Amino acid sequence: MKIKIVVGTVLLGLILFHHVIAQQPPALTSKNEVGHPSRFGFGRLATTTEIALWDIDVRPDGKGLPAGQGNALKGKAIYTIKCMACHGNNDTDLSKIKPPAPLLVSDTLAKSRPKAIGNYWPYATTLFDYIRRSMPYNQPGSLTDNEVYSLTAYLLYANKILKQDQVLNANTLPAIVMPAKKLFIMDDRKGGPEIK
Ligand code: HEC
Repeated sequence: MKIKIVVGTVLLGLILFHHVIAQQPPALTSKNEVGHPSRFGFGRLATTTEIALWDIDVRPDGKGLPAGQGNALKGKAIYTIKCMACHGNNDTDLSKIKPPAPLLVSDTLAKSRPKAIGNYWPYATTLFDYIRRSMPYNQPGSLTDNEVYSLTAYLLYANKILKQDQVLNANTLPAIVMPAKKLFIMDDRKGGPEIK
């Protein structure tokens, strides 16, 4: 009986060793036990230009906005060619037509309206960020910074937030206070019992 328990314990130990210790990945040394080199000789460091192409985030306070400028008039012309097919013509009532992409214009804070830039977006800066990184849906990254400034200006104008001739750039865009900003509250919870 005792022998059986001892054998069982040894077997269990061996199984645990096999699963827990023996299966750990080898430590990352310059030349590990199996003889792999520290580098495999393919790939290269990303260049500063390549990193800059990806490093395009614009924060709510405007940090990250590039040089350049635009206005609503130019933006409308670009919108007609590159955006309208999916988002619809903002000059007509689109509530019954249902274009394939979300509506971008809505009456400010009117409750019955679908959520759009005018009644839901808390920051104007992130509209620039969104358009630059992801639109047009079928060709993201294809717009110049000036085009994005103009499109942002046009969409803010169409939502009655900006005047038609107002110039948008890295200084004027972060200064815009969106009508829906007051609908959001900062999540300032720090942990502890108030978190449910
Ligand atoms: C091929 C169709 C298509 C084209 C063209 C297109 N979009 Fe979009 N757009 C979409 C779709 C689909 C979404 C929703 C994406 C999602 O929710 O993930 C969207 C979402 C958006 C949003 C976010 C709306 C919101 O409130 O959530 C904005 C802003 C926007 N597009 C702007 C533009 C602009 C500006 C252009 C022209 C440069 C453009 N789009 C061209 C399909 C398109």
